[in-house]
Amino acid sequence: MTLTPKSRLIIALDVTDRTEALSIAEKLGGAVDAIKVNYPLVLVCGLGIIKDIKKYANVIADFKVADIPNTNSLICRETFEAGADAIICQGFVGKDSVKACVDVANKYGREVYVVTEMSHPGALDFLQPHAFELVDLAFRAGASGIIAPATRPERLVDIRCRAGDMKILSPGVGAQGGDARKAIDAGADFVIVGRSIYNAEDPYAAAVNFIEQLRR
Ligand code: C5P
Repeated sequence: MTLTPKSRLIIALDVTDRTEALSIAEKLGGAVDAIKVNYPLVLVCGLGIIKDIKKYANVIADFKVADIPNTNSLICRETFEAGADAIICQGFVGKDSVKACVDVANKYGREVYVVTEMSHPGALDFLQPHAFELVDLAFRAGASGIIAPATRPERLVDIRCRAGDMKILSPGVGAQGGDARKAIDAGADFVIVGRSIYNAEDPYAAAVNFIEQLRR
């Protein structure tokens, strides 16, 4: 699959209970563009959870893959065999490691997204000074897109200019302080929202609320 913006909302399903995860996926799958899984869920449920969630939505595996090319290839192969539509990798390990992910993704007809600047305060320590280089690296390696912070819309504007046609997925909305609408206006194609949806009393209503903000 190729991730295409409709609702522009991706849910980060970082719950650690299988029943809860599948219940949220079933309720929200039709409304969101993708469901992102990360280690908290996969470490508890195993990689098989990807196939179960795929019944309801496209799945992005946020494994922030950051190893030598051969290990990256093996991780990507297993993740795509498990049914993931896309995988997130780190760019700081270098172009060869990212390219290894892209080569495997191309064989499966799937996508790779590269982390540029992260959304948390610690991203300022090492990642931010190199964010533009990481955008260029993602492009040269043939990635489908990048991850850039909704918590810093002013940075999103600059990263958008640098990213050309690559898609931008933007986490940090809600619990980390970012605003969904501002992130899209600054150049993101999708926002990623976790806690503000799955911890809400009514996750479906919370998701619909974000989708309405994104439509405006
Ligand atoms: O709960 P919250 O909305 O903060 O969740 C954000 C999700 O996006 C988490 O899964 C987190 O690991 C992920 N993420 C992020 N910042 C990045 C890359 C991924 O917050 N730069």
